[in-house]
Amino acid sequence: MNLARRTMNNPAFALLYERAWRPTSFWLATGRTMTADRRYAVRALRLRPGDRVLDIACGPGNFTHHLSAHVGSGYAVGIDFSVPMLRRAVVDNAGSRVGYVRGDARRLPFADGSFDAVCCFGALYLIPDPLLAAAEMIRVLAPGGRIAISTSHTPEGVLGQVSRLVGGAGGLRVFDLDTFPKLLAEHGLTDIDQQVHGLMQYVGATRAHE
Ligand SMILES: C[S@@+](CC[C@H](N)C(=O)[O-])C[C@H]1O[C@@H](n2cnc3c(N)ncnc32)[C@H](O)[C@@H]1O
Repeated sequence: MNLARRTMNNPAFALLYERAWRPTSFWLATGRTMTADRRYAVRALRLRPGDRVLDIACGPGNFTHHLSAHVGSGYAVGIDFSVPMLRRAVVDNAGSRVGYVRGDARRLPFADGSFDAVCCFGALYLIPDPLLAAAEMIRVLAPGGRIAISTSHTPEGVLGQVSRLVGGAGGLRVFDLDTFPKLLAEHGLTDIDQQVHGLMQYVGATRAHE
């Protein structure tokens, strides 16, 4: 198990994640607050009353609960691998329209087209086979559904080389900017939107109605 994965399975880290680690580390990496990222999520996923939302690699539910507040009688499901993270999710981010499931992003335990909105924030760089995980996101997305991702990208020049080396040693990947837009387009998604903030890229897209 690499350093990043061991960290995600540490109960002390899970306790600190939403309270301190996430706000600080993402602000340093992107210049954005968690409130700004949550707003981005709601906007990119174009949430509507009745939507079924899947939050992949949900950690302690810091997005899942927020998303559930925007779907009226719909619901949000968070899925994660880490038991300590899911324990925190149940304590810190429970709600009447929220549920949590333990599972692997590379083999989602859901039928094709089960969700109207699917997101994965701050996690694809931790997952072995991230392209398989992205393909799984698309598989469970219903026709007309929306997808949103935030993950790392490789900055230009020396910073890019340093982030590849340092990230690689700790078990974190960095992606080219065309990787996810290309993958989404190859799967037939449209309205592909990409923003770059500091060391992170934010990508949204829509699955066509059949
Ligand atoms: C940095 S947290 C992200 C939490 C939240 N999405 C956010 O943006 O703040 C990354 C999460 O990815 C989860 N994770 C890593 N690999 C996974 C996999 N293969 N399947 C499901 N979850 C995974 C970890 O357990 C961890 O909770």
